Amino acid sequence: MVTRDRTHRLGDLAALIAWAGAERAGAAIYRLGGDDAELLSLNTAPAGRGVGSALLAAIEETALQTGRRRLWLVTTNDNVDALRFYQRRGYRLAALFPKAVDVARAVKPGIPAIGFHGTPIHDELVLEKRL
Ligand SMILES: CC(C)(COP(=O)(O)OP(=O)(O)OC[C@H]1O[C@@H](n2cnc3c(N)ncnc32)[C@H](O)[C@@H]1OP(=O)(O)O)[C@@H](O)C(=O)NCCC(=O)NCCS
Repeated sequence: MVTRDRTHRLGDLAALIAWAGAERAGAAIYRLGGDDAELLSLNTAPAGRGVGSALLAAIEETALQTGRRRLWLVTTNDNVDALRFYQRRGYRLAALFPKAVDVARAVKPGIPAIGFHGTPIHDELVLEKRL
């Protein structure tokens, strides 16, 4: 995963998997830093069954129990569903990086130009929650 100023190999990071019976219902990938934690990826399918909320709560709990007091993440300007999802769960906008995805796309050309709801992807937004 390439973001504004970093490249991560997601396979090297910690993950939580949600199961619905024998089926994988979602996954969250995160990184514990010095005094905070970063959520790098959260995906569920199908949406709207409470899996995203459960994974997010579990990562917040892990962060708290290991002494971190802040959980943060990066999303993109097209992802209005994620912006609603996180803000309804206590996350606040902390930073905007205009054109950050355009810059990342130069490093990783596979990053799509068009995102959710047919919206052109250009910018990164940082959301954070004090735990
Ligand atoms: C954003 C995402 C992670 C949310 O996960 P999710 O599993 O849909 O999350 P939840 O089901 O917990 O909550 C989603 C909505 O369903 C509702 N919901 C929760 N449990 C429900 C249930 N049992 N029945 C019906 N609706 C429910 C919630 O009220 C919530 O609405 P809200 O956001 O307006 O509060 C998911 O949609 C996704 O994978 N999106 C694509 C990838 C992505 O954008 N990831 C985030 C990038 S930073």
